Amino acid sequence: MSDTKVYKNFINGKWVESSSGKTFENRNPANTDEVVGVFQKSNADDVNQALTAAAEAYKKWRLVPAPKRGELLYRVASKMWARKEEISRDMTREMGKVIAETRGDTQEAIDMTYYMAGEGRRLFGQTTPSEMPNKFNMTIRQPLGVCSFITPWNFPIAIPAWKTMPALICGNTVVIKPATDTPLSVAHMMEVFEEEGIPAGVVNMVTGSGGTVGTALINDDRVRVVSFTGSTEIGRKVSEGCAPNFKHCCLEMGGKNVQIVMDDANLELAVEGALWGAFGTTGQRCTATSRLIIHEKVHDKMVEMLKAQAEKIKVGNGLDETVKMGPCINQGQLDTVLSYIDIGQKGGARLVTGGERLTGGDYDKGFFVKPTIFTGVTQKMRIWREEIFGPVLSVGTFKTFDQAIEMANDTAYGLSAAIYTQDINKAYTAMRDVYTGIFYVNAPTIGAETHLPFGGTKETGNGHREAATAALDVFSEWKSVYVDFSGKIQRAQIDNQ
Ligand code: UN1
Repeated sequence: MSDTKVYKNFINGKWVESSSGKTFENRNPANTDEVVGVFQKSNADDVNQALTAAAEAYKKWRLVPAPKRGELLYRVASKMWARKEEISRDMTREMGKVIAETRGDTQEAIDMTYYMAGEGRRLFGQTTPSEMPNKFNMTIRQPLGVCSFITPWNFPIAIPAWKTMPALICGNTVVIKPATDTPLSVAHMMEVFEEEGIPAGVVNMVTGSGGTVGTALINDDRVRVVSFTGSTEIGRKVSEGCAPNFKHCCLEMGGKNVQIVMDDANLELAVEGALWGAFGTTGQRCTATSRLIIHEKVHDKMVEMLKAQAEKIKVGNGLDETVKMGPCINQGQLDTVLSYIDIGQKGGARLVTGGERLTGGDYDKGFFVKPTIFTGVTQKMRIWREEIFGPVLSVGTFKTFDQAIEMANDTAYGLSAAIYTQDINKAYTAMRDVYTGIFYVNAPTIGAETHLPFGGTKETGNGHREAATAALDVFSEWKSVYVDFSGKIQRAQIDNQ
């Protein structure tokens, strides 16, 4: 392992070691013998340096014309495209999801970068009439300053890009703490920024633990926006950390996403959608299909089809193109998944398939678990209510459409939902009545595109959205501008009566 590469922090345009002198290993969850890289175990001092650099760089970056900032993002997108295969392969090595999916992850980062590059020539505000004569009214977007990001391991480059690109196009500067399990993907993003000549300090990366680096990034008064993707439990702490000095705070948290299958649905399509939604990314998406509710008339048939298909899913090392599902991200996540399988069984649900760790041969070196399906899951059970973040699908059944809507909404979360039906009236009614941030008709709960808002209701989020122009509202503040060219004092609400 002596030739394992040591990655440094990226601060103020330079690759630097942590002042802690400590490092940590990033291991492949499909083969824990493989060390993907060694990263800096940073401390509050490193965060301080990164924030100082970001605060200094902000003074100039905010004044760079937005189309020029956009030109840089175009070059970054094009370089990521050129490096797509390399970035994606490294991502599979550090995160475990299959290569087709890591290519998708990198593509999502590229899409977001192009999209936000284009915003450089838009960033539209409004003009609107004044209530006074000879007076002009408009709104402009202004950046906030230094943004800090705490990013997850399940979309190692896409989600950092969702946050970074809109922040930069609006004129902010950035410090990112990548997930401890997947820092290499963010390091690659930094390399691309460096190669394309981003001014020093505009983007910075500090690797290390959430407790040390994350906390320092949330608490420092120089930070004006914190954007976090992760669990609802940690999101609540982030929100509390931001409250004392009113930092803007954008939270993307848990999900317990439902797929509804009506009795008139195309069952083959519904099966394919449920399997992709539940077991894609080993179920480790906030948007993963975690609950499947099937009309009683087609329940048994669909369960049979699901079981047959789920048992064909090839699990293994994601670099093998024939593998369809990779490992869980780490031992902790594997333990969580196994404990929920136990909870499901003890709680009275029926295990239809899966339900155990895969062992023997290469499986012993990774965190592999079989695609798992429970039926007979009722609304009181913990596997109905709690986010598992693994390849476990909880299946329930219903008699009426109204009951399906009630069940769909019976969750603390509100990220994504789907309905499979041929009845357009039911599709639109469900679209209106299922209270989530994302809704699909005849498509699985995963697969959001970058030019539509991404986020959820209830305990999934705090009212913000990522992606699309909605992200610009996180990374800019409105300034309303009144220009009076009448040459006299005109008093709003008084002189126009
Ligand atoms: C996530 O689930 O954490 O919609 C992000 C999707 C992806 C992004 C998911 N485009 O499934």
